[in-house]
Amino acid sequence: MAIREVLKMGDPRLLAPAQPVEDFGSPELAQLIVDMHDTMRALNGAGLAAPQIGVGLQVVIFEVAANRRYPEAGNVPFTVLINPVLTPLSEVMEEGWEGCLSVPGMRGRVPRHADLRYQGFDAAGTPIDRSVSGFHARVVQHEVDHLRGILYPMRIRDLRYFGFTDTLFPGQALQDD
Ligand code: NI
Repeated sequence: MAIREVLKMGDPRLLAPAQPVEDFGSPELAQLIVDMHDTMRALNGAGLAAPQIGVGLQVVIFEVAANRRYPEAGNVPFTVLINPVLTPLSEVMEEGWEGCLSVPGMRGRVPRHADLRYQGFDAAGTPIDRSVSGFHARVVQHEVDHLRGILYPMRIRDLRYFGFTDTLFPGQALQDD
């Protein structure tokens, strides 16, 4: 078990595009995923991307349990998604609040595609192909943005809707991604 340091906004490694994984099933990839999982759990995050722990590979993980206190969350099963490809399934964009482990203590309203198909591979190289909507689609878009060097504040349209979590949502324990 290894909890890794999560890089914070301002670190140039968060702005670099990540490289595709070519060696599925390697011990290094397995260890990376264990470390990402341990780190996400330790910080009570909803998702984590490899660049957030300083590894420039196209690996993201996410999970949202229905009993956690993300408003309107629903249940997102624990997923390891490697070399993802995203395809919006409608023109509909939805605004919603997001946080990020690399931008601790803050939240902002971000537009995302409401309906999304995502494809990629799990840790063993088995293909993943899911069509999702709502919060599940939001989490995936947030995590995959990390692989492109994009942090959610870069997508906020109206910066009046960007602020400190404890001021915006007093008394609520919210997850970060
Ligand atoms: Ni994030």
